Amino acid sequence: MTKLIDGKKISQEIKEEIKLFCNKLKEEEKQLPGLVTILVGNNPASFSYVNSKAKTCNEVGMISKVEQLDESTSEDELISLIKKYNSDEKFHGILVQLPLPKHINESNIIKSIIPEKDVDGFHPVNVGKLVIGEDTIIPCTPYGIIELLKRYKIDTSGKHVVVVGRSNIVGKPIANLLLQKKEEANAIVTVVHSAAKNISYYTKQADILIAAIGSPNFIKADMLKNEVVVIDVGINRIEDKNSTKGYKIVGDVDFDEVSKIASYITPVPGGVGPMTIAMLLKNTLIAYKLLTNN
Ligand code: GUN
Repeated sequence: MTKLIDGKKISQEIKEEIKLFCNKLKEEEKQLPGLVTILVGNNPASFSYVNSKAKTCNEVGMISKVEQLDESTSEDELISLIKKYNSDEKFHGILVQLPLPKHINESNIIKSIIPEKDVDGFHPVNVGKLVIGEDTIIPCTPYGIIELLKRYKIDTSGKHVVVVGRSNIVGKPIANLLLQKKEEANAIVTVVHSAAKNISYYTKQADILIAAIGSPNFIKADMLKNEVVVIDVGINRIEDKNSTKGYKIVGDVDFDEVSKIASYITPVPGGVGPMTIAMLLKNTLIAYKLLTNN
């Protein structure tokens, strides 16, 4: 029987844990954790992500602030604002929503956030620490995947994990995390990407498949072996005439087919997606604890 990995439920549990911690801080009249989110331009999807991050922060009792900047903001202006928050003790996490307008160099922006407040875990210092297995801030989506595997007691040690996709946000960090010589990792990891001539050759070998490619319903049942564990990171909009919105959200995995052969599978929506925000709050809490010794 295929089991569903319920990211909505687990993310709720994590948010409750964070809320309890914030309530305790309030009772003790201590400073609360603060997250500032910076959005440049008016991409509707980014706008909706940023607002839902701010709303969730408030729900758990954290301080949250959204800086919405005009599309024409220069790289220097954005860096000046980040520097202001680097030294603002009210905020322990700084998140700049990506993608940025084309005239702004993403890498310069990521590097301008001090690593201690980089709750995305994208700064080269944090990426380097992750690769060499040191404690650091882990990017939210890979952190969410690790947490789902842990809470569902899915053992990764000695298992063949096949990651499809090599982005800096998901593919590369999750591959590096799972190959660490640690109890909750210790996997044999293969990373497959668009240059592979025969993706199925690799995916068929997976004990655990992680799909992060951004291509709707790309992974089919005949690309996998029976009893595979499937983690679907995709969030793709496809046309749906039956929906009032005119579209529906699907993953990178063809859920209808694959759920018939998998041992575990994350649904979309309600799998990895809700975990990303929960882990952002967790990262903000980690940054807060390190910066304040609370
Ligand atoms: N845009 C899409 N995903 C992310 C993310 O995880 N962090 C940031 N900062 N921007 C994103």
